[in-house]
Amino acid sequence: MSVLKEADQQLIRLLADGQFRSGSELGEALGISRAAIWKRVQRLEEFGLALESVKGKGYRLAQPVDLIDPLSLQATLGDRAQLHYQWVTESTNADALAIEGPVSGPLVFVTECQTAGRGRRGRQWQSPFAANLYFSIRFPVSGGFAALGGLSLAVGVAVAQALQELDPPLSVTLKWPNDLQINGAKVGGVLIELAGEMDGQVDVVIGVGVNGRMTGHQARDIDQAWTDLASELADMPPRTTLAACVLSRLLEMLPHFSQHGFVAFQNDFDRYDAVRGKLVQVQSGDQMILGRAVGVLADGALRVETPDGVREVYGGEVSLRVR
Ligand code: BTN
Repeated sequence: MSVLKEADQQLIRLLADGQFRSGSELGEALGISRAAIWKRVQRLEEFGLALESVKGKGYRLAQPVDLIDPLSLQATLGDRAQLHYQWVTESTNADALAIEGPVSGPLVFVTECQTAGRGRRGRQWQSPFAANLYFSIRFPVSGGFAALGGLSLAVGVAVAQALQELDPPLSVTLKWPNDLQINGAKVGGVLIELAGEMDGQVDVVIGVGVNGRMTGHQARDIDQAWTDLASELADMPPRTTLAACVLSRLLEMLPHFSQHGFVAFQNDFDRYDAVRGKLVQVQSGDQMILGRAVGVLADGALRVETPDGVREVYGGEVSLRVR
């Protein structure tokens, strides 16, 4: 897939409000011919932007686009984190992992669109242009990998709290180990990846995707029940506000997690736990565990009551189905 050049970005800004602009108006603004405009408009579809062209009226985006304002977002983050913003990238997790570490403080990678967004268990994460929230935080953690148990659960708690800050009655829940749900439909996910030494300084990369406003067409490859915030929140805020709110909560949570581990968030997690008390089927490697979920331990393990006793399951490459 191609990159978005400066002229493409300008074109998106000109069309962002969803109003028609004639080919000649766009051509003039960009200093290129009407034929060249047509080609550029075609290319935008590669990034998941749907465009309409009507004879005599010109072009418009099928839906207005709400771009992130990186200056305003950095102003909100202040000196708590350094922001790297891109229009398009393969994956913000890949970007965060690629930089030379260890880092001295949190780095935040935000993008409008991912061309190879990663989900858990090798899946793709649908990341159409300016539709959702896609970001990663690279953060230094001392104490090695062992200190990271339950991190994805603590991240889930922080994101859930941020969403309820925007809309307190929102019935958001967490499906162990990494799904954010609203009324049983997935609205977001967390993907944690690690960079660093086994026992020494570890940099953790926390990738978060939250569905903001996605069309059925953009979500056509999602093979599970999903929803987006535009359908669920009383008032859908601009994506910059959404990003600022979620990132603020996470940047507040991370130092606490570093110091105390997941135990400091266990009670909060319990309140959001979507599977507690439910019959579950957990596939972990070649093992299948069937039983009733009975909560999580202080290290983030899921407890499953089976006829052979209580089993403890750790995150990573596991899949969990509620039966
Ligand atoms: C999942 O539920 O499978 C986890 C999804 C995580 C998606 C986010 S989007 C930002 C970050 N960059 C990626 O490539 N993936 C994560």
